[in-house]
Amino acid sequence: MNKLRIGIIGTGGIARKHAQALLAIPEVELVAGADIVPDKARAFLDSFDLPQAAAFNSHQDLLKLDLDAVSVCTYNSTHKECVVDALAAGCHVLCEKPMSITLSEAVAMRQAEQASGKILSIGFQPRYDINTQKVKSIISGGDLGKIYYIQTGGGRRRGIPGRTFINKEQAGVGALADIGCYALDFALNSIGYPRPLTVSAYASNYFGTNPKYYPLADQFQVDDFSAAFIRLEGDIVLDFRMSWAMHMDTTGDFLFLGTDAGLKVRQPHMKWWGGAWDGPIGEIFYMHDQFGVPTETPVPLAENQGADLFQKKVQAFVDAVITNGPAPIPTSQIIYNQAIIDGIIRSSSEKKEVTIEIPEL
Ligand SMILES: NC(=O)c1ccc[n+]([C@@H]2O[C@H](COP(=O)([O-])OP(=O)(O)OC[C@H]3O[C@@H](n4cnc5c(N)ncnc54)[C@H](O)[C@@H]3O)[C@@H](O)[C@H]2O)c1
Repeated sequence: MNKLRIGIIGTGGIARKHAQALLAIPEVELVAGADIVPDKARAFLDSFDLPQAAAFNSHQDLLKLDLDAVSVCTYNSTHKECVVDALAAGCHVLCEKPMSITLSEAVAMRQAEQASGKILSIGFQPRYDINTQKVKSIISGGDLGKIYYIQTGGGRRRGIPGRTFINKEQAGVGALADIGCYALDFALNSIGYPRPLTVSAYASNYFGTNPKYYPLADQFQVDDFSAAFIRLEGDIVLDFRMSWAMHMDTTGDFLFLGTDAGLKVRQPHMKWWGGAWDGPIGEIFYMHDQFGVPTETPVPLAENQGADLFQKKVQAFVDAVITNGPAPIPTSQIIYNQAIIDGIIRSSSEKKEVTIEIPEL
C-alpha cells in the first residue's frame, strides 16, 4: 500500500503533537505544512528534519497538492474555512477542538463533509482515556438507571493562556470553547450525545481583563468563566461550569445522577493548572444503596496502556482513513457540543434562556 500523504494546516503549538503522532505511524508520510505567518511552516518542517516536505503560506496552496488527508491545527476562527476548503479538495480532515466558534460554522462544516463523502473527525483525545471509557460503559450498561442530572466540574484557579487564545479575531470564544468543549464532550459522550434543547447561561471575564491577575489584560476580549443550565432531550439537565481563573480550586466534581445510582468523577489533582479535562480523568466513585444503606464504592482505575492519548487520537483518524470507516469522533455528535457553546454565548449576552435550533442535516 502506498503511504497516506498528509499535510498540516497551521504549524503552531499543537501542530507539533500532530506531526510527532503522524511521524510515528508507518503508513503515513507527512508531506506538507502551511501557515499564514511567512516562513513558519518551513521552519516547522525543518525542525522535524523534513526538508523534502513542501511549505506554503496559505492552506489553499497546500491543498493544490495531491493529499489524502490534513490535520487542521489553526486557531479557532479559521477552522471552518480550512476544513471546508480541505473537504472540497478531496481530503479527509482531522480538525482540532473546538469544532468552530459558532453553530452556523459547524453546520457549514458538516454540510461540506456530507457533500464531500470524506471523513471529518474532531480532536478530543480524552475520549481515548481508558477510565473515561469506563464511565461511559458503566452508564451505558444501565447500572445508574435513568440519568436525569449531570454536573460538570473542574475549572482552573489560575490558567489563562496567552497568544491566539484571548482575542475575538483568532480565538472567538475563551475558556468556554477552549476547555469547556472537553467538559461538554465528556458529559454528552458518556450518555450518548442527546440533543440539547435550551440554555440559560452566564459568562464573564473579571480576571482576564484585570492587570492584577493577567498581564495581557488590555488584549483580553473573551470569557474566562461561564456557567449554564442546559436542558437535553430525554428529560436530562446539564449543569455546566468552566473557568480559566477564579478564587476557587474547583467548581466541583463531575456528577452523574441516575434513578438507581450515581457516579462522582474527579479531575486529576493539578494545583494551578487543574480541571482542563483535556487528558485522563481522576478518581471515580460509584454511589449506590447496598442492602438499603447509601454506599460509596471507589471504582478501580485502570492504567492507560501504551501510546499516549494524543497518539491514539491521530491513529484512530488514520485507521478510519485507511478503512474508509466512519469518523472516530463524528460531527453528528460534536455539532451538539458546538450548539451548546453557541447557546451559552447567546444566552449570556441576551441575559435570558435561549432555544437551541440545529438544522436537520
Ligand atoms: N487537543 C489539544 O490538546 C489541543 C491543545 C492545544 C490547542 N488545541 C487547539 O488547536 C488549535 C491551535 O492551537 P495552538 O495552540 O496550536 O495555536 P497557535 O496559535 O500556536 O497555532 C495556530 C497556527 O495556525 C496558523 N493559522 C491560522 N489561520 C491559518 C490559515 N488559514 N492557514 C494556515 N495557517 C493558519 C497561525 O498562524 C498559527 O501559527 C486551537 O483550536 C486549539 O483549541 C488543541
